[in-house]
Formats: sequence, C-alpha cells, structure tokens
Amino acid sequence: EGPKLWGGRFTGAVDPLMEKFNASIGFDKRMWKEDLHGSMCYTRALVRAGLLTEEEGSKMQEGLELVHKEWAAGDFKIKSSDEDIHSANERRLTELIGSDVAGKLHTGRSRNDQVATDVRLWLKAQVKDLQQELVQLMRTATNRAEAEVDIIFPGYTHLQPAQPIRWGHYLMAYCNMWKRDAERLQDLLKRVDVMPLGSGALAGHAFLGPDDRTALAEDIGFSQGPSWNSLDATSDRDFVVEFLFWASLTGVHISKFAEDCIIYSSNEFKYMAMSDAYSTGSSLMPQKKNPDACELLRGKSGRNIGNLTTMLVALKGLPSTYNKDLQEDKEPLFDSVDTMKGCLPIATGVLATLKLNTDRMQKGLSADMLATDLADYLVRKGVPFRETHHISGQAVQIAENQNKPLSSVTLEELKTLHSAFEEDVEKVWSFESSVESRDAQGSTSRRSVLQQTAAMKEWLDNY
Ligand code: ARG
Repeated sequence: EGPKLWGGRFTGAVDPLMEKFNASIGFDKRMWKEDLHGSMCYTRALVRAGLLTEEEGSKMQEGLELVHKEWAAGDFKIKSSDEDIHSANERRLTELIGSDVAGKLHTGRSRNDQVATDVRLWLKAQVKDLQQELVQLMRTATNRAEAEVDIIFPGYTHLQPAQPIRWGHYLMAYCNMWKRDAERLQDLLKRVDVMPLGSGALAGHAFLGPDDRTALAEDIGFSQGPSWNSLDATSDRDFVVEFLFWASLTGVHISKFAEDCIIYSSNEFKYMAMSDAYSTGSSLMPQKKNPDACELLRGKSGRNIGNLTTMLVALKGLPSTYNKDLQEDKEPLFDSVDTMKGCLPIATGVLATLKLNTDRMQKGLSADMLATDLADYLVRKGVPFRETHHISGQAVQIAENQNKPLSSVTLEELKTLHSAFEEDVEKVWSFESSVESRDAQGSTSRRSVLQQTAAMKEWLDNY
C-alpha cells in the first residue's frame, strides 16, 4: 500500500475492488520504457526551463536510470497501489531518490499528456517493426511471382472457373493489396509521430516557454513536433483508431489469401500443399493434414475488427478532453499489434513454403475457360463483340449438348454459327496464347507480370 498520486483532497480510502477496477498497470506496464524515456526528456526540458537545477536534473536522471535497470532486469516490483505505469515509475523513483527531487518531475505534467505520449512512442516503434514484416511478405510474393511466372492456372470469379491466369499475376494481386496497406501504415505514422507532452491535463503548460516544446519533441524523437492544441492532444485517439483500421484491413487481405490457400489445398482442388511446418494433424484421424496456419490467419483477422469496433464505440459518446474511458484504448491496441506481429511472419512463411502442384493447376484449366477467347477471335475478324459473345455462348451450348470440350466443336459446327470462323480458330485452344493475348498494363501476360514484379521491387527498395 502506498499513497495515491492524487490523494491530497481525499479523506476516505478507495474500495479495494475499485482500486483493481481502476488500475491499468496490468497491461500498460508494457510501456515502461517509453514512460521512462519520456520522463528523462521531460527532466531535461525542466532543467532548460529553470524549474530544476542542473544537480536536481542529474539526480533525477540517475534515479530514472535505476528504475530503468530494474525493469530491464525484471526486478521491478509492482505494488497493489500502483494504478498505472506512470504512477508506478514515479513511486519507485521517489523511493530511490527521495521526494525532494522526485516530487518535481511531474511539474506541469499530467498523466493525460503523459499517457498519450507513451502510447504514441510505443506505437511508433511497433509500426516500424510491422513495416518490416509487411515488406518481407511482399518480397516473398514478388519473388515467387517472378520465379513462377510460367505457371498458368484457373482464375475464378464467384468461385466459378473464369479465365486462365498466370500464377504470378495472381500473387501480384495480393502484393498490390499489401502495398496499399504499407502505404497506409507509412501515412498513419505521420499522425502517430506527434508529441502531446507539455499539454498538461488539458489547458496547456504553465512553465514551458512558447518554443520549449519544440526542443522537447526533438529530444524525445517525435518527428512531427509538438501537438497544436492541448485539449485535442490529451484526448486524441484517432491514431489508435487509424492503426486498428490498418490492422483490420491488412488482416482481411491476409485472411482472403489464407482462404484461397485453404480452398486450393483441399483434396478437391489440390493445386497446392501447405508445408508440414504450417500444418497440423488430427488427434483422431491419422490421415489428416489440416491447414491450421491459414485457418488461424483467417480467424485472427476477426480480432482486429473487434478491436476497431471497441475503440470507436469507446470514443463515440465521450465529451471533450480526457475521460477515463480512454484507458480502454490500450488493450485493443496491444492486442492488434500482437495479432499482426503474429500473423505477418506466419503469412510470409506459409507463402514461402507453399508447394505447388502444377500438374493439378494445369488440369484445372478447361477449354470452356477460353470461351471469351473464342469471342475475341471473331472480334479480330471484325464482328461486333456483343454478337461474338452470343455466338461463343452457342458454341458452349453445342459442346455441352454433345458432352464434349469446347475445343472439340468442329469448324463445320462453328461455321453454322458464323461464316467468319476459319481454320486458324485452332489457335484459340491454347491457354498460353490466352494469357499472352492479355498484354495491356496490369494484365496477365508474361511481359505484364514481369513488369509488375519489377515495378514492385523498385517500390519496395524505396519504401
Ligand atoms: N492510466 C490512465 C490511462 O491509461 C492514465 C491517465 C490517467 N489520468 C487521469 N487523469 N486519471 O489513460
């Protein structure tokens, strides 16, 4: 039991249940390093502003270093009266160096600007890690797309066989989703990288001069400088919402990829097999190999959406400036960071080790997937597309009626549909020609896919 930071005006003790209910130390201790870093920089700002002597400043720094050492060594003892990481660190500092100096650390500061500072500092470092993980995933996709550009397999819409596509083209589709995710992450970092410290509880700082926060921001390492408005700075959690949205959408993209892998590795498709490293067996059925990694990627994406919803709902009813509801920001944020730090390397591993069954992929291609190419053939002979679409549809019907592949419809039969059909229609029945004929930017031809991978590599090098 220790005295409360805010105990001065209180006479009665806090209900022990309330003390537990109010506490965030159980989870916000994750920010111990950021909290101490903020306090060390704040100490220097107080010295510069003349609120601490050089000696007091040094004593404070030494004390903060000692607290740092305890945390780093796993020796920091949390007390039941430590409400949150901010009070815990200050309590310990006071024990170590005495209240004469330690009691000056919080001058002009509130836990409101302190916690907003800590969360931003913490998230900044996490975002940088996540950027690296996302880049790994994108590089893996791009390298595979390039190396396996020769593989052609069925593309689906509505999960119905649609047109032949290159495997590399398919992979680059995901890489483009992840590129936008990487851009969004880069962009939101600008808004995380702003310093609330020096905003006080809400109204601003009574001791720092007009420009003093700039040096403080530089010292802490906020590249976008101090926040512009203290009321906003102490209560703004937009950056948390933005991050949770990023995690939600990136998670959805990964989930979609995982779902494809689950479908394509099923016994009915067998286009691919997941590496043993990312599969598990059944405790009952000896023959089973289950795509657990992909199922978890799909399943975990839901957590992020839940966390985003939690945060938006927590914010929507709040009046201006700091309210304790804001303490509810950390658990969803931490959970989504952990979730994404778990998902991204697993997605990379799954993708890097996927074994393709090119035989099955090729067998998945059927001549009716060239019906559009048959229509395109007539277009090249000058027949309007609306007509050629209808004619090709009739050819599909002939094939279906005779229970034969579309490519076996004879020239005679085709000629009954349109006189423009000639011997060279044979050339339509090639999946290779089909993908090669789609050569416009962003299409599935070999040239186009390799252009995509080259452009992506350049983009990644500059990210
Ligand atoms: N633990 C609190 C949080 O996470 C810190 C800020 C508390 N401020 C206050 N005035 N009670 O938001």
